[in-house]
Amino acid sequence: MAEKSFKYVIVGGGVSAGYAAREFAKQGVKPGELAIISKEAVAPYERPALSKAYLFPEGAARLPGFHVCVGSGGERQLPEWYAEKGISLILSTEIVKADLASKTLVSAAGESFKYQTLVIATGSTVLKLSDFGVQGADSKNIFYLREIDDADQLVEALKAKKNGKAVVVGGGYIGLELSAVLRLNNIEVNMVYPEPWCMPRLFTEGIAAFYEGYYKNKGVNIIKGTVAVGFDTHPNGEVKEVKLKDGRVLEADIVVVGVGARPLTTLFKGQVEEEKGGIKTDAFFKTSVPDVYAVGDVATFPLKMYNEIRRVEHVDHSRKSAEQAVKAIFASEQGKSVDEYDYLPYFYSRAFDLSWQFYGDNVGETVLFGDADPNSATHKFGQYWIKDGKIVGAFLESGSPEENKAIAKVAKVQPPATLDQLAQEGISFASKI
Ligand code: FDA
Ligand code: NAD
Repeated sequence: MAEKSFKYVIVGGGVSAGYAAREFAKQGVKPGELAIISKEAVAPYERPALSKAYLFPEGAARLPGFHVCVGSGGERQLPEWYAEKGISLILSTEIVKADLASKTLVSAAGESFKYQTLVIATGSTVLKLSDFGVQGADSKNIFYLREIDDADQLVEALKAKKNGKAVVVGGGYIGLELSAVLRLNNIEVNMVYPEPWCMPRLFTEGIAAFYEGYYKNKGVNIIKGTVAVGFDTHPNGEVKEVKLKDGRVLEADIVVVGVGARPLTTLFKGQVEEEKGGIKTDAFFKTSVPDVYAVGDVATFPLKMYNEIRRVEHVDHSRKSAEQAVKAIFASEQGKSVDEYDYLPYFYSRAFDLSWQFYGDNVGETVLFGDADPNSATHKFGQYWIKDGKIVGAFLESGSPEENKAIAKVAKVQPPATLDQLAQEGISFASKI
């Protein structure tokens, strides 16, 4: 089969790839120089939409509405945008072999692609219950959510199982966002997770108590401290019941599983240095192999502010790391340099009429402020994290754009403060920084 050759190849066609393409265009990439190779059938899109507006019962988001870069207020890059710029969008093409020594990628169909510079943007894949040997985990109507095809299957199931029953397995991002949107679809929801409160990797018990109360009021039944250990099916293979470790059995027409993700580094195992489960990079997203960069979910990079190396599985970093890598590629070609990546972690979520933002680091002592009563109409509340007498992290539910900017600033500036002071002043402390 013919071999194609490009100056630059991005492997993966998700959020990072789309934002990288925009930066390549800004930097003046020439027609024919850049290819994006993606196993998805569509041009890069804003993945966060899949667990939110894509699943709305009415007025649902659909492509081409949410191609990158609309999620950050940028231009919407339709397939024509890539064509105009002479960027090859090679879709429905899975790379199954990467040989970094000979700078060659091979697709499932046997096509070869040569590159001079490679950007790895393969993102993450879901952890599956079958990976943990859960009995019956391959029954029909058990769904995971990563790509648009997964979302389409879930949309079909929602149509087929109108007003039915769902079990949501997992109490993280997917669990919380999907439980909400299933309720909006008038599905009965049981949510199951092993921890004592939801989203423990970010939420404290105080934050979680608000969301758990709010979800309960919206009709979500939360079952904590146990896991799904098996599924029974109808004769047609569709899921019927979820068996829990504590002996309970839940009826289910639909099961949605969100038990975490794992970065897709398999193609490069043994060829590139890895750390903390990802591909190790420097502050320019350069890997241990010359001319190979890694961005987004797969990159383990220096988080300058905290003098630590970390991996971040959130959209803001996927956009910014992609831009940084492309700037660094062009600068190095011109014998110039760019500033080191100096990232302030930013995570957010939206569900029902709720919307929270978090900036910084969730370490140290905490103080909750504002109205965290799930029964209240306003429910504006937040939390600060303090380490060594300085604010290092800030969370805010239902903040205005100005207030969200203020908590971002406070997490960046790290002003000194005491717990008492913050408990009293709440958001107004951040607003005056
Ligand atoms: P991303 O997953 O976007 O793209 C990877 C691409 O590589 C995919 O197109 C994949 O098909 C392709 N690929 C993988 N292996 C390949 C191969 N071998 N050959 C060819 N192509 C290959 N974050 C946040 O901050 N706020 C939010 O609200 C949300 N919401 C959200 C919802 C859902 C449903 C998910 C799954 C994730 C989120 N996230 C999020 C996380 C955020 O979307 C995520 O961090 C970024 O999409 C990561 O961008 P990447 O480009 O690294 O991977
Ligand atoms: P997650 O890590 O947020 O949550 C996983 C949850 O699964 C944890 O709460 C854990 O308790 C639970 N769990 C683990 N094993 C379990 C088991 N056997 N049974 C029941 N529960 C179990 O992962 P996720 O929610 O699956 O999200 C997947 C990826 O998508 C992540 O990278 C995440 O960052 C991303 N995402 C982000 C957002 C956002 O930022 N708003 C939204 C959706 C998805």
